[in-house]
Amino acid sequence: MRLAVLASGRGSNLQAILDAIAQGRLEARVAAVFSDRAKAGALERARAARIPAESLKPGDFPTREAFDESLFSRIAAVHPDLIVCAGYMRLLGAPQVEAWAGRMINIHPSLLPAFKGLRTHEQALAAGVAVHGASVHFVTCELDGGPVIAQASVPVLPGDDATALAARVLEREHPLLVATLRLFAQGRVALGADGVHVDGRRLQAPLQLGGDLREAAA
Ligand code: GAR
Repeated sequence: MRLAVLASGRGSNLQAILDAIAQGRLEARVAAVFSDRAKAGALERARAARIPAESLKPGDFPTREAFDESLFSRIAAVHPDLIVCAGYMRLLGAPQVEAWAGRMINIHPSLLPAFKGLRTHEQALAAGVAVHGASVHFVTCELDGGPVIAQASVPVLPGDDATALAARVLEREHPLLVATLRLFAQGRVALGADGVHVDGRRLQAPLQLGGDLREAAA
């Protein structure tokens, strides 16, 4: 399975993918890493692993559409089976999202459909929920709204601030993303017209890390 990874920031989720591949826990290859920020740590991590890494600056393009066209023509040139948005913080263009439907996933730091968008940990604390977490979902044109494949939950503890909660969630994001990618590598996940299909059956609810996802990905 050839992966193209999009990342805007430090790249710890990318690193989790690279480590899983290096340790033989994930049968995949990261074909290239792309970023909208030249200083993204993810690019450094990719280069350290000898993976082609490229940044495109949105400001260098006349329009948002031109940026997305250029980015996705570069992505297409590395022939990925799957595009993984791992902390990619820009909205994606509708033509590109449609062209890659079922072949592009995103990891989002909340238990979707709760807390879409930014500052999810602050949102969770403000809402006073007892349980928070992360989701891996297919990318559709609705922001953070595509069908959810798998989730990982963490407790919200007394005294938590956004930093502490984010760290607890991030620790679960890494195994969540790797376990979900294992299912893709095994050819067991697909996007159907009626939602996510795993092993040919429509998921009634997202797979749970530590529950059915661990069993499915074992
Ligand atoms: C992760 O927490 C990821 O879930 C989040 O950005 C962080 C990237 O961390 N993604 C989003 O908020 C997407 N809307 P990383 O660069 O260390 O992988």
